[in-house]
Amino acid sequence: MTASVDVLVVGGGGAGLRAAIAVVEANPRLTVAIVSKVYPMRSHTVSAEGGAAGVIAADDTADEHVYDTVSGGDWLCDQDAVEAFVAEAPRELMRLEHWGCPWSRTPDGHIAVRAFGGMKNKRTWFAADKTGFHLLHTLFQTSLSYPQIRRYDEYFVTTLLVDEGRARGVVAIEVATGRVEGIVAKAVILATGGCGRIYPFTTNANIKTGDGMALAYRAGAPLKDMEFVQYHPTGLPFTGILITEAARAEGGWMLNKDGYRYLQDYNLGTPTPGPKMRSMELGPRDRVSQAFVHEQEKGRTVETPYGHVVHLDLRHLGAELIDRKLPFVRELCQRYQNLDPVTELIPVRPVVHYMMGGVGTDIHGATGLPGLYAAGEVACVSINGANRLGSNSLPELLVFGARAGAAAAEFASAVSLPAFSVVSRIYDEQRRLERELQRHTDGGERMADIRTEMQDAMEQHVGIYRDGGALAKAADKLEELRERFNRAGIDDHSRTFNTELLAAFELSFMLDVARCIVACALNREESRGAHQRTDFPRRDDERYLAHSVIHRNPDGTGRVEYAPVTITALPPAERVYGR
Ligand code: FUM
Repeated sequence: MTASVDVLVVGGGGAGLRAAIAVVEANPRLTVAIVSKVYPMRSHTVSAEGGAAGVIAADDTADEHVYDTVSGGDWLCDQDAVEAFVAEAPRELMRLEHWGCPWSRTPDGHIAVRAFGGMKNKRTWFAADKTGFHLLHTLFQTSLSYPQIRRYDEYFVTTLLVDEGRARGVVAIEVATGRVEGIVAKAVILATGGCGRIYPFTTNANIKTGDGMALAYRAGAPLKDMEFVQYHPTGLPFTGILITEAARAEGGWMLNKDGYRYLQDYNLGTPTPGPKMRSMELGPRDRVSQAFVHEQEKGRTVETPYGHVVHLDLRHLGAELIDRKLPFVRELCQRYQNLDPVTELIPVRPVVHYMMGGVGTDIHGATGLPGLYAAGEVACVSINGANRLGSNSLPELLVFGARAGAAAAEFASAVSLPAFSVVSRIYDEQRRLERELQRHTDGGERMADIRTEMQDAMEQHVGIYRDGGALAKAADKLEELRERFNRAGIDDHSRTFNTELLAAFELSFMLDVARCIVACALNREESRGAHQRTDFPRRDDERYLAHSVIHRNPDGTGRVEYAPVTITALPPAERVYGR
């Protein structure tokens, strides 16, 4: 079966929906298909909690948002992209207001903004602590009003079609039936999110398995800055469920096992609030997560069956504020941790949350492969540099989703549909998928074992702190796992809802992406943002004020090169918090 469309979007979350809307806004004559492995409202955007940054308050400025973002990213951000992002974020957020997003308000009816980590001023728009749900719902219902947008819900993309050096569509499996469909397109936009599931403890949904990153990499589009993996300081210990930074923005404290607000010992300020909020619990995520490791080394964390934890204390905020501004935090704690934060401490630990790296794009979302665009967490544009600030990712997916949609629309308006030759590529992929469905184990290898060992190796060797020896071990382990993957089989050979087969594809994507993370981390012999090398503890602007760019060689190995960082107004400087 083959279908054709002007612009094909892979992923039905915030970036994908915003991109699809932007395509038809730019050119209503174009047709769009959204192909998503889950129903759009189940995309991971739905679980975003704390909010979306955009300058709106009278005492805030775009320059300050740019500065916070660039310094928070340890100067690895492309400053032209950050400037565009900061300029367009408030417009995008206001557009959502007009589309029906119920932003929380001040008593006099203005948009309310809250503080967030690493941001000096209050600029984070929020809808209580269910911002992602409301944002995604708003985009989804808006997309429904465009008949040009057709959806392929619960279709799993297995390959990008590339012909004559251009992206030409995808091949996807319909999950319910196992039917394989080729969808050809003039332009393709990847909006598949990140890959937190490469790690064992993550805030990320099960669906975040790096599919778009691997699809692009295999198709010849390089990945950028993959070594920068963000740990969020406050995940629930067993499940990894996010306890939003908004809990600290509203006044929550981080306590070690002695009940001490330990962050004051880590150059993040003191408990006395100053006129600007850049300290203590609202430090940037890389520094706050690193402080946890030091507390653990000093024996000041609490040991639990699910690893070491510290405590998040909201008790002094009171039930009224928690119920009004953090109702989801209370609900999550009650349901998944069996405690009430109104009266009890919340055990938390750093958990993998976000990938700063991804498919390298220009400021319009164009990748290195003509006709292929990317936006949101799957992409690296790069506004996040070595460490993303909390609440910058929702506006990022809006701003660059819209930009990628507009650019793809322009591209698609100027080219014709793929030539007939692409059909033979679809048949090739159909034959490959038939073989995959018949995979039988050779030597008893199990996919689940390989996945668990990959996750453990990544957490142990490629975590908050790394060194050359540990990274080399991770590289060897991933080689071994890839070889074992090739011998592993599946038990379910049927076509109906064959989630075992899809999990095998996801594992294959994750192994590719994990190898890219490790290769880039091994190569970068410095410490910057979320990439902390104990054997190279300093930032080294001489050698590494540059983006890592990893290309796939024909034999499947990766080749790391470096590309310049765009500096406009802010020359590299020290990151200073709490002063
Ligand atoms: O803590 C949070 O609510 C996360 C926000 C973000 O990652 O932007």
